[in-house]
Amino acid sequence: MEFNRKHLLELKGLTREEITFILDTAESFKEVLKRPIPKVPTLRGKTIVNLFFEPSTRTRISFELAQKRLSADSVSFTAATSSVLKGETLRDTARNIEAMNIDMVVIRHGASGAPHFLTQCVKASIINAGDGQHEHPTQGLLDIMTLREKFKTLEKLKVAIIGDVAHSRVARSNIYGLQAMGAEVALCGPPTMMPLDAEQWQAEIFYNLDDALAWADVVNVLRIQLERQQKGLFPSTREYHKLYGITRARVEKAKKEITILHPGPINRGVEIESEMADSEFSLILDQVTNGVAVRMAVLYLLSGGRGAERFDESTN
Ligand code: CP
Repeated sequence: MEFNRKHLLELKGLTREEITFILDTAESFKEVLKRPIPKVPTLRGKTIVNLFFEPSTRTRISFELAQKRLSADSVSFTAATSSVLKGETLRDTARNIEAMNIDMVVIRHGASGAPHFLTQCVKASIINAGDGQHEHPTQGLLDIMTLREKFKTLEKLKVAIIGDVAHSRVARSNIYGLQAMGAEVALCGPPTMMPLDAEQWQAEIFYNLDDALAWADVVNVLRIQLERQQKGLFPSTREYHKLYGITRARVEKAKKEITILHPGPINRGVEIESEMADSEFSLILDQVTNGVAVRMAVLYLLSGGRGAERFDESTN
């Protein structure tokens, strides 16, 4: 198969074949990451800029590591130490960076649509590392990769996305990606955190966590985004934990094995009991490991790579 896309802005619209192709390529890179020298010269000569206008730990480090493992030249920019603070616009930042001859831009931005906007101002490939409340496509891909590793196929797998769906770019990428792969998706949270147009996704909607746990094989637990919320979506974090927090008692009540994902960073004791985040049910650190391989695959394919193949240390 050919992967003919120039940008990765969202999982909406990606086909099952395309997602499978990215994940198969990521599996090859995961094998590279297990070698004594986990590095290939695949992107030697390519220049990548990471533009992070919002805080990030996992995504930024994961992209930077992926770029180093592929031997690309990369630089990272954070808004807090840039000329954005002097009033520079996103367009001017991007055009100045492009004047330095870059091949790819990885961008995280608080405004939904910022990565799409960049595709219209610069010639480089653009990768969305999370934009506002729109999408976080590489997070969706690493979640799907982690589930595919455990369950082999996502066909008919029941995945409940729990929490602040309305504000979550992770939820949107998961919904599109999981449904493309044949999974059944449900959404669960307080009515104030459910988007008004939630029916558009043809996902089951639960307002009661015990009902969602009785239905699900997997729960993807969203971070409560205290920084994005207007006041009043729920009375207190204590109340939220009582009604929607994932606890051992709740999972045991469902009387079956439930797999737990969380994109991080975790608010321990709010959306998930601290002990459960580290429990035998949790694949949270597997998600982080897979993030590097998925991002290597995306960087490689968008730069014209031909897909799952054996990557030799001498591969050009
Ligand atoms: N999952 C995720 O996007 O984490 P960061 O905000 O740390 O990048």
